[in-house]
Amino acid sequence: MTDSITIDRPDDWHLHVRDGEMLERVVPFTASRFGRALIMPNLNPPVRNVTQALKYRSQILDSVPSNTTFDPKMSLYLTDSTTVADVVEASQSEHIAGFKLYPAGATTNSDSGVTKILGVMPILEAMSEHGVVLQVHGEVTDKHVDIFDREAVFIDQILLPLSREIPQLKIVLEHITTREGVDFVQSAGPQIAGTITPQHLLYNRNEIFRGGIRPHAFCLPVLKREAHRQALMEAATQGNPSFFLGTDSAPHIRGAKQSECGCAGIFSANAAIEIYAEIFASVDKLHMLEGFSSHHGADFYDVKRNTETITLINQMHTLPTKIDGANKNADDDLIPLMAGHQLSWMLQL
Ligand code: DOR
Ligand code: ZN
Repeated sequence: MTDSITIDRPDDWHLHVRDGEMLERVVPFTASRFGRALIMPNLNPPVRNVTQALKYRSQILDSVPSNTTFDPKMSLYLTDSTTVADVVEASQSEHIAGFKLYPAGATTNSDSGVTKILGVMPILEAMSEHGVVLQVHGEVTDKHVDIFDREAVFIDQILLPLSREIPQLKIVLEHITTREGVDFVQSAGPQIAGTITPQHLLYNRNEIFRGGIRPHAFCLPVLKREAHRQALMEAATQGNPSFFLGTDSAPHIRGAKQSECGCAGIFSANAAIEIYAEIFASVDKLHMLEGFSSHHGADFYDVKRNTETITLINQMHTLPTKIDGANKNADDDLIPLMAGHQLSWMLQL
């Protein structure tokens, strides 16, 4: 059994950190593990332009521990009123790594999202022209489409036509959850990639109903059948450069998750790289972790690979059952992914 593994410092290409106290609580976890993270813009109100993103970025940097280098890359929220000038400005900032397309109503804080894809075609053309990446929440919002089919239908109805119409546009299908998502990315050219979360590698949809209803296993896109999980496992661990790490770590306080209408999102930043290591090790693919975590995303986004390294040691430890907020009120806790579980891979800090 390997005792330790050293890899180039990984990047998290899909991360939610919110703002205010929550931001201060969660950013240090990511900054101590990852060299960069792509910060999602679904605040309320959303982060729509470069000025707003740079202000948000400096708030994030204020929460990075002083002995740590961490470079947040920002995604801007695409709306019906995004302009070509917004795109051009974004293309000129090294801190901006793309625009996020949320179909309006698809998920948490997506009300300002795009209502009709046809309405933003000129903006997407401009993104293609200026080499700006489109990050996509790939689910249709039609309430008549079964929640478990929303990704597959989005690929058919929106993504395939879009990628034919604007073939040079760089697209990341975020948090893919289905075999259809894997197939779409695999059969497309190098301009199209997919991120994969730890929860979609760990669990199938049974987890949401294991012994009762489990609000902390609810995220969007929702967990799918076992066959889809297996397709994701293969995609992540086979060394294909089109797939890379994006945790979609999304902190919501316990009070908001354990409620009559619990919100979507799984928090994993406190042990993200350790959990991916555990997942890769479980199928004897630890040697594939570095490509997925540290190289493929940087190469796709055309940024230098990180030069520092991290070391994971093979040492059993127990993950925390909760992460306290400032006032230690139970409602304000975060319940992380794999709360209270044992892990055999530990980050050497
Ligand atoms: O589960 C999710 N949580 N999915 C998303 O798309 C958004 C995220 C959040 O912001 O909490
Ligand atoms: Zn997300």
